[in-house]
Amino acid sequence: MSDSSICESYRTDGYYFPIRVLSPDEAGECRRRLEAFESEHQGLPDRYRFKTYLVWTWLDRLIRHPRILDAVEAVIGPDILCWSTDFFIKEPHDPGFVSWHQDSTYWGLEPPEVVTAWLGLTDSTEENGCVRVVPGSHLDGQITHHDTFGADNLLSRGQEVMVKVDEREGVDLTLSAGEASLHHVLVVHGSRPNASSDRRIGIAFRYLPTHVRQTEGVRESAMLVRGVDDYGNFDLEPRPRADFDEAALASHADAMGRFERFGETSR
Ligand code: NI
Repeated sequence: MSDSSICESYRTDGYYFPIRVLSPDEAGECRRRLEAFESEHQGLPDRYRFKTYLVWTWLDRLIRHPRILDAVEAVIGPDILCWSTDFFIKEPHDPGFVSWHQDSTYWGLEPPEVVTAWLGLTDSTEENGCVRVVPGSHLDGQITHHDTFGADNLLSRGQEVMVKVDEREGVDLTLSAGEASLHHVLVVHGSRPNASSDRRIGIAFRYLPTHVRQTEGVRESAMLVRGVDDYGNFDLEPRPRADFDEAALASHADAMGRFERFGETSR
């Protein structure tokens, strides 16, 4: 698929998939690294769910993977910041789900030209709770949300759009391990529980064109991954030189300290 058809499809629908980024073997290697870390630390500590590219060199390389950035460039242009990454892990038979929501609701970023690239480290299927989107919903603008605080809702406050979503309208963004999807910050999306006997593991990469700015909160930081930053709306982050070395830990701690409100909104 050419860049112009990615762009056209994304503009109309608010999403685009699938994009082959890694081979299944390469995706499996990323999963092994993650799981080795989890077994050393009794799971993934909460602070390392976010912005982990600041401490982990394999993830630092992945946020600038040309196959991801070429697709991202097709929709937001050539000057690209990575603002965050989040691991989204659903355990086997995990009742956790994500209610229908728009990512724009609490992020405080303007204009809303933020794109998420969601990369599967495992297959992401209807059975194991892949991301689902409502096509074209990004064209309706910001919708009011309310907090449901549902026990199994993976969003910290169970935020949900205050309009009834017809489940039949939802499109499953099914991916094979190593494939990615793109979705617009205003597109209504959610996901169902993992009914399978394996984990479902994905990483969401949040990308902004350099002209996007924060409308609230402490000045944040971001990583320039392509092009130039002529705007200076974010402090630019350093690349990690070695996994979890002292400088990397310090830059991650600094970035996360400014990023507090993010943790409560983006699970
Ligand atoms: Ni979301």
